[in-house]
Amino acid sequence: MSMPTAAITFTGVNKSYGGKLAVNGLSFHVEPGECFGLLGPNGAGKSTTARMVLGMALPDAGTITVLGEPVPGRARRARARIGVVPQFDNLEPGFTVRENLEIFGTYFGMSAGEISVVIPSLLEFARLESKADARVIELSGGMKRRLTLARALINDPQLLVMDEPATGLDPHARHLIWERLRLLLARGKTILLTTHFMEEAERLCNRLCVIDEGRSIAEGTPNALIEEQIGSQVIEIYGGNSHELRPLLEPYTQRTEVSGEALFCYAADPEQVRLQLRAHAGLRILQRPANLEDVFLRLTGREMKD
Ligand SMILES: Nc1ncnc2c1ncn2[C@@H]1O[C@H](COP(=O)(O)OP(=O)(O)OP(=O)(O)O)[C@@H](O)[C@H]1O
Ligand SMILES: [Mg+2]
Repeated sequence: MSMPTAAITFTGVNKSYGGKLAVNGLSFHVEPGECFGLLGPNGAGKSTTARMVLGMALPDAGTITVLGEPVPGRARRARARIGVVPQFDNLEPGFTVRENLEIFGTYFGMSAGEISVVIPSLLEFARLESKADARVIELSGGMKRRLTLARALINDPQLLVMDEPATGLDPHARHLIWERLRLLLARGKTILLTTHFMEEAERLCNRLCVIDEGRSIAEGTPNALIEEQIGSQVIEIYGGNSHELRPLLEPYTQRTEVSGEALFCYAADPEQVRLQLRAHAGLRILQRPANLEDVFLRLTGREMKD
């Protein structure tokens, strides 16, 4: 019996630009039908990784397979079954929504007849029915992103490579994109998603890999990463003297962290922490479940990267 083929495998992949490693010994695999997230700060190597999946950037070392094809060697064959949402929209600005879809269909060798059959369902999927004859320059940012998503689906791809599909959108537009991505997963598509939205990763990804400076620093399901790295509850304390409170609370926490004027406590039993704070008036205390953002900040540090 043969193993089901992974949708994507990366094994020890390196890529440098001008002597600097953008991707450094990266290994991961994406199973068919899952949403796999690449999570990392600006400059982490997310787009470079996505571009290597597509054969658009060439690795210096390591091996890559995509839909069973060695890449970059047979990237063209793989690309026929992939839909791409690039980080920055590259739509034809002077053309209409419909024309953009038509032009893209011809890249995949589709006939005018084949294209006209699929366009109505793509417009519906992207909720752009009423904009079919509007030019791209007349669209909002959210509409452009949805058009890019619709365009990526024209060849009915098995695998979608999406580089920050929801960045720069307002919450409504973002949630609409997420809802559409969930629909694609329900239809059995495989998605490789890059993001620095923790909420996006937490909601959509079955598994994810946190990358920083081109290296994988953690991998797993969102819940496993949260449990492993942080624990269960976070208590944020504002308005106190962190240096005074910290030693008092430390025995009741797994870890504490000072961030600006706030003290963060990570604890399995938050009641114990709160009990210690009862004698201190004037504090603002926020207790919440740990989330992926805590993981991200812990792993990649709280300072800006570039
Ligand atoms: N074509 C290129 N030429 C030179 N350097 C590049 C090129 N593409 C990427 N880099 C460098 O490689 C590193 C990783 O860049 P990459 O675009 O992959 O990061 P990213 O994780 O997608 O970041 P962002 O979140 O800002 O999109 C950065 O230091 C970047 O400057
Ligand atoms: Mg990028």
